[in-house]
Amino acid sequence: MGFLRLLQAVLLAAAAAAAARAPAARAWGEEGHYMTCKIAEGFLTGEASAAVKGLLPEWAVGELAAACSWPDAVRRQMPWSGSLHFADTPGDCKFSYARDCHGTKGEKDMCVVGGINNYTAALQDSSSPYNRTESLLFLSHFLGDIHQPMHCGRTADLGGNTIVVTWYNTTKTNLHKVWNVNVIETAMNRFYKDDMSTMVNAIKHNLTNEWCREENQWAACYTPTTTCADKYAEESAELSCPAYVGADHGSNLEDEYFFKALPVVQKRIAQGGVRLAAILNRIFSGKNDDRIQSS
Ligand SMILES: *[C@@H]1O[C@H](CO)[C@@H](O)[C@H](O)[C@H]1NC(C)=O
Ligand SMILES: *[C@@H]1O[C@H](CO)[C@@H](O)[C@H](O)[C@H]1NC(C)=O
Ligand SMILES: *[C@@H]1O[C@H](CO)[C@@H](O)[C@H](O)[C@H]1NC(C)=O
Ligand SMILES: *[C@@H]1O[C@H](CO)[C@@H](O)[C@H](O)[C@H]1NC(C)=O
Ligand SMILES: [Zn+2]
Repeated sequence: MGFLRLLQAVLLAAAAAAAARAPAARAWGEEGHYMTCKIAEGFLTGEASAAVKGLLPEWAVGELAAACSWPDAVRRQMPWSGSLHFADTPGDCKFSYARDCHGTKGEKDMCVVGGINNYTAALQDSSSPYNRTESLLFLSHFLGDIHQPMHCGRTADLGGNTIVVTWYNTTKTNLHKVWNVNVIETAMNRFYKDDMSTMVNAIKHNLTNEWCREENQWAACYTPTTTCADKYAEESAELSCPAYVGADHGSNLEDEYFFKALPVVQKRIAQGGVRLAAILNRIFSGKNDDRIQSS
């Protein structure tokens, strides 16, 4: 490897490691990705967990959750990957693969659903030329993104990015970021002692109580030939509709909006985690039933 490539690799690893360490707000935001992957880790079979650990970069120190924001950290260095983080729609709150899964210049399959299918297939195929570490990190990250309703929002406002709002009269933000970051950080601050593992535990508590009946269905549409990512995008597109209500450009969002969004955010993180685990279990331990195994 040439010096420049080496330097680039070192800088990338450092940026990714810093991104993984710092709980500070960024693109879901880092907390959302961390929690989605943390929940997935808890549902992996022993076999899948060992395979995942074997693929993780060294700086993740054996923790999938620590590496799940990597695709955001390298988005600039890999500009082609940008459109794989989302799947916006014309505004009908429905997702249609044929219509909506393309890049900004119309490149077919270049959306979050295409990305999930791509990296699932790559990991399943031992002769795939793609880097398996990168495939794992992209897949794990995109399972988080696809569950964030504003990642399947309207094309016209870039999934809420151009809708500027204030959060509790103090923070200038936008509707996309409200869902990525602000709701989670306000919840952490108010209810979870600013501690991500406390919030993860609260979500896990619901997984073993509140949601334990429906949970078996969450991963159930997985078939040998698809990842059901279409369904996850359809759900998010549908959830994006009410998320736009009461959040016009220039508005101030506070308790009313926060308490409407929080249960949705928490459930989507849970679903993303459970589904990621089901996909990884299938890839790495050939598990063929759709039931989730706790470990
Ligand atoms: C599939 O993965 C490869 C390798 O990272 C990438 O070049 C290609 O653009 C990806 N395509 C999709 C639809 O994700
Ligand atoms: C695979 O990707 C990771 C992360 O970008 C990188 O550190 C590693 O060197 C790559 N492996 C190969 C064999 O290219
Ligand atoms: C935000 O400003 C509005 C209008 O001035 C006020 O009614 C509301 O109580 C403020 N909210 C907070 C959380 O300070
Ligand atoms: C637990 O479930 C209840 C009922 O669906 C919901 O209101 C609450 O937000 C959930 N809490 C967490 C931490 O997921
Ligand atoms: Zn992303």
